[in-house]
Amino acid sequence: MTSRPRHSLILGTLGCSAMLACLPASADVDPQQLLNQFESTFGKFEGYRRSGAKGICAVGEFVGSAEGRALSVSSAFSGKPVPVTVRFSVGGANPRAADNTKSQRNLALQFNLPGGELWQMGNISAPVFGAATPEQFLGRLQSLQPDPATKAADPAKVKAFADANPEVLLQGKYFASQPVPASFGSVNYWGVHTFGFVNGQGDKQLGKWTFEPVAGTQGLSDEEAKAKGPSFLFDDLRQRVAAGNVAFDFKLQLAQPGDRIDSVVHPLPEDRRKVTLGRLTIKSVSADGGGDCLAITYVPTVLPKGVEASPDPMLFARAAPYGVGLGRRLAEGAKQ
Ligand code: HEM
Repeated sequence: MTSRPRHSLILGTLGCSAMLACLPASADVDPQQLLNQFESTFGKFEGYRRSGAKGICAVGEFVGSAEGRALSVSSAFSGKPVPVTVRFSVGGANPRAADNTKSQRNLALQFNLPGGELWQMGNISAPVFGAATPEQFLGRLQSLQPDPATKAADPAKVKAFADANPEVLLQGKYFASQPVPASFGSVNYWGVHTFGFVNGQGDKQLGKWTFEPVAGTQGLSDEEAKAKGPSFLFDDLRQRVAAGNVAFDFKLQLAQPGDRIDSVVHPLPEDRRKVTLGRLTIKSVSADGGGDCLAITYVPTVLPKGVEASPDPMLFARAAPYGVGLGRRLAEGAKQ
């Protein structure tokens, strides 16, 4: 591990107080309003998650590495197998979203650590999110809301919002540049936010993580994607897991002083070193719509001792809407 003064990256970036002063007033975005806007823009599908609706539960096992232990005291990195409650999903609010399009895939994880401690995360198949702040996310969703007369978004409104907020186009550009993933098990997933890893000496290393398929990434040509049809990902995952072929390396890309650590639309510079924190192996996949992931909402600020949040307005804005979303779908009868 690189040695550096304690908390040097946080202090060395801007100074925490300066950083916090930069944060927009994300508390102003009402979580109920956000959830209502998801439903107005994308439709309401009772019992399903308002985002990542088409999903499947799986069971995984994580084994931490010596590099992980050097960076963090978290028991996730002890080297002993840790059970993980996994959910794979396709982006969007529609539980019948097509699998063969260039859209988002998700990998949500809950590490079930000793003593009842939990570590939750929701990772996406892009290095950036579709908005920089909760306010911008709400504005983007509002601009995409279908007009009742035409049943489609007003292109002028969509363009005006995107012109004024160009960050909202970054993620779409990334997906357009990539092939359709051949499998949930063959695409890279990014945590997108920055987190701090704290070791036994109190050293904090900031970084952004990825889950990278051990067997490598695999995409489909446009013809192959068309031939697969709109619903192949669940069976593909079951087959690959039964054959013992789905595992991901959990990697941390290390931030350096001066790097942006408060943004989901600024990846770290590509040349930043990566270390492997351990390996996640998918052991089984639900045969149907049930499973342990059903009643979980994966809140990325549920962190274990030894892993800390960063001052990112999107990170802290997630817990409340996720709770509201969970409440709504449980009340409706959770389906996924
Ligand atoms: C203010 C910002 C955000 C809002 C309002 C929001 C909202 C939501 C909601 C309501 C759900 C469904 C939760 C449930 O019913 O359990 C969800 C799922 C998800 N979100 Fe977000 N989200 C935000 C930001 C982000 C960001 C920045 C990421 C990037 C990593 C992300 C990744 C995911 C993933 C991976 C899922 C699926 C998790 C699962 O399988 O349960 N979200 N989001």
